[in-house]
Amino acid sequence: MEVGLCVCVALCLFTVANSITDPSDFKILNDFREGLENPELLKWPGNGDEDPCGPPSWPHVICSGDKVSQIQVQSLGLIGPLPQNFNQLSKLSNLGLQRNKFNGSLPTFSGLSELEFAYLDYNEFDSIPSDFFDELSSIRVLALDYNPFNASTGWSLPDGLAKSVQLTNLSLLVLGSH
Ligand SMILES: *[C@@H]1O[C@H](CO)[C@@H](O)[C@H](O)[C@H]1NC(C)=O
Ligand SMILES: *[C@@H]1O[C@H](CO)[C@@H](O)[C@H](O)[C@H]1NC(C)=O
Ligand SMILES: *[C@@H]1O[C@H](CO)[C@@H](O)[C@H](O)[C@H]1NC(C)=O
Repeated sequence: MEVGLCVCVALCLFTVANSITDPSDFKILNDFREGLENPELLKWPGNGDEDPCGPPSWPHVICSGDKVSQIQVQSLGLIGPLPQNFNQLSKLSNLGLQRNKFNGSLPTFSGLSELEFAYLDYNEFDSIPSDFFDELSSIRVLALDYNPFNASTGWSLPDGLAKSVQLTNLSLLVLGSH
């Protein structure tokens, strides 16, 4: 009887420990992976039951509780777009995508209210949606440099930026609120 209880407790703990990631965040990570041309470079486990937040967490992923708080994939050589639902990673605070070959349009980052650091530089993103900056209320460093944004005409800052970020650095290489 006692042994049975122990086994049950152990199994239950195991189950909990291995399925904690918020299902919405889990889906976005899988969408992110599936959009890439070379997802194997992430070394993320196959689509079994392994949990992005672990333990152990997937490579390049850091969680806070059951939510993804960081994705750090700089310099991996990843090719492809970001999923359009990317802004639903609601607890994302630090994003390192720099020095890859992410391309296509950036998805909106609207509503990523905890995002403080976003390194998107040295990629091949070609455009920024007009609501990209809406409600990016915590942003401190946003690096967009070395992307072929609007290569022939240059690009203008979407309106939302003026509303949500107090700019002190207008170089458009690194935008910071302080
Ligand atoms: C991204 O780059 C790859 C490889 O060059 C290309 O096949 C793909 O069409 C590009 N996607 C977009 C959205 O530009
Ligand atoms: C550059 O941006 C403007 C305004 O968003 C757009 O009308 C134009 O087509 C873009 N040019 C290129 C080459 O993407
Ligand atoms: C903006 O920030 C970048 C990175 O810190 C710096 O190299 C650049 O000189 C700054 N530009 C201005 C106009 O302050």
